[in-house]
Amino acid sequence: MPTLHINGKETAVDADESTPILWALRDTLGMTGTKFGCGQALCGACTVLLNGAPVRSCSTPISAAVGQKITTIEAVGQDKVGQAVQAAWVKHDVAQCGYCQSGQIMSATALLRGKKKPSDADIDAAMAGNICRCGTYVRIRAAIHDAAQSLA
Ligand code: FES
Ligand code: FES
Repeated sequence: MPTLHINGKETAVDADESTPILWALRDTLGMTGTKFGCGQALCGACTVLLNGAPVRSCSTPISAAVGQKITTIEAVGQDKVGQAVQAAWVKHDVAQCGYCQSGQIMSATALLRGKKKPSDADIDAAMAGNICRCGTYVRIRAAIHDAAQSLA
C-alpha cells in the first residue's frame, strides 16, 4: 500500500499507485476539499501543492507523489501566506458558487510564497490554469494584491 506525505502526515493510501491523487484524497481518505472539475488537467479545480508547486491532482498519479510533500486546501492555512490568502478571499467575498475556489486558493498561495509583490501580469500567468465559470477573476486578482499587501 503506497504511503503519501499529506499535510505534514505520512498517510497510507489503499489504492493502486496509478490512481490519480484526487481520487486518493476524496474517495479513499475522505478529504473532499479538493474538487473534481474536468478530470483532464484543464480546469484547475483539483489543484494541490506538490513540494509547494501547484499540480492538477486529477492527472497526477500516486506514484509521482510518493516521497513528495502534498498540501491540500485543508492545510493551506497552516502558514501565514495561506492565512493571508484565506483572509483576503473572505474580505473580498471572492467565491460565487465556490466550486473552483479551493484550486484558486492553492494556486494563489503558491504564487505568493514565491513572489512577494506580484504584478497583474504575474497573477494572470500564475492563475491562468484555474478556470472560474462564475467569472470571479476580478475579485481573485484584488484578493491576491490585498494578501500581498497584508504580508508586506
Ligand atoms: S479536475 Fe483536475 S484540472 Fe480539472
Ligand atoms: S466561483 Fe463558481 S466556478 Fe468559480
